[in-house]
Amino acid sequence: MATSPSVRVFPPEFLWGTATAAYQIEGAAREAGRTPSIWDVYSRTPGKVRNGDTGDIAADHYNRWREDTALMADLGVGAYRFSVSWPRVQPTGTGPASQEGLDFYRRLTDDLLAKGIEPVVTLYHWDLPQHLEDAGGWPERRTAELFAEYAALVADALGDRVKTWTTLNEPWCSAFLGYGSGVHAPGRTDPVDALRAAHHLNLGHGLAVQVLRDRLPEDARLSVTLNLHHVRPLTDSAADVDAARRIDGLANRVFTGPMLDGAYPEDVLADTASLTDWSFVQDGDTALINRPLDFLGVNYYSPTLVSHHEGPPAHRSDGHGASDHSPWPAADNVAFHQTPGPRTAMGWTIDPDGLYELLMRVRRDHPELPVMITENGAAFDDYANPDGEVHDPERIDYLRDHLAAVHSAIESGADVRGYFLWSLLDNYEWGYGYSRRFGTVYVDYATQRRIPKTSAHWYAKLTRSGSLSP
Ligand code: NOJ
Repeated sequence: MATSPSVRVFPPEFLWGTATAAYQIEGAAREAGRTPSIWDVYSRTPGKVRNGDTGDIAADHYNRWREDTALMADLGVGAYRFSVSWPRVQPTGTGPASQEGLDFYRRLTDDLLAKGIEPVVTLYHWDLPQHLEDAGGWPERRTAELFAEYAALVADALGDRVKTWTTLNEPWCSAFLGYGSGVHAPGRTDPVDALRAAHHLNLGHGLAVQVLRDRLPEDARLSVTLNLHHVRPLTDSAADVDAARRIDGLANRVFTGPMLDGAYPEDVLADTASLTDWSFVQDGDTALINRPLDFLGVNYYSPTLVSHHEGPPAHRSDGHGASDHSPWPAADNVAFHQTPGPRTAMGWTIDPDGLYELLMRVRRDHPELPVMITENGAAFDDYANPDGEVHDPERIDYLRDHLAAVHSAIESGADVRGYFLWSLLDNYEWGYGYSRRFGTVYVDYATQRRIPKTSAHWYAKLTRSGSLSP
């Protein structure tokens, strides 16, 4: 059959997937010895999360996982990215595992494998056991060491059935939103703690990779997921270009530097020298962090537009939530701007070119490293119509345009191996609670009924044909 030239055909081995995270969907917050995570505590702190929403019930996936894996099978996905809840499988963050907690993930992965869906496990998607936050959290080195112990315990339990592993999800958010601006758990607002957290997340990643390599079969694929920011300067003036360099350092290179290149970038150390001498980085740490990876996970939603700013700290419409504290240490001279164009319900500008440019940058900087898009998607104000259907044409447009950008990047030489749609289900959108819907399947939270949206049917066709029609 002849295909029209505008149909984009993806490589046959391209992995089509969908993604979720434990705290956002599982619920069952007190089941089987699970202790509170930092998100259980933060979400109960008045004023932190919209409507005071918590993940206590969420999408009740802990009880409905079989229905949810059936939905994935309907979507035709070849892979499912989910995270393991640390306080569910190791309740105090140290010491023995909870067998019941591990059994939940064993049953889930067995069922996925039986349905021909590859499990892709993220070890840390933001739900640090509160016990460890009480002992200092990510600003403390000990948390990185304990993370590696937890990684060992999960590897031993799931290593015979899970091949693809991700250490951390978006450590930028854990460090800079969690300890800098405080719009994420644990809600601390100290720029030095944020930098210390970034380092200890990096270290935790490196130590965990080593543990996983030692314990898993040789064909295990190890990765980390970063929300690389595509940072553009407002103008090509030297000052604006320098503001973009600075934010690129704090958003991207503070992680890719040690993880992929073996050192913290000199300019990031210099930019933050007024706050810290980075003496929390010990001799040999960057060698521990810089472990070979099998691919890089990239999450992309929207680009970042910045300019140089003189005077008192600028209003920060950087899309990461409102706070009196900046997530960007020592960057008061940077102003953030809204990129022009249509936006999603998060207020994030829809800009597929940003994804293309980002993938080409990764290709330039790390030509040997394959990439998976571990998250991409959009929130819109979806609702069930009187016939009980949910129509989300904007989401289909968003996905189509971003996948076209991925396809163009592959044609231009980027080594992109797969794409995970965020998200399978509507879920708990962190500080926004349940007010933002990212799912391709609608969740009626009152009844927990699942309704595949129009985009789910659209995605199911795409995963089966592997070709994108205009
Ligand atoms: C990235 C995070 O990993 C995920 O948890 C979140 O829901 C999406 N972005 C949308 O904000």
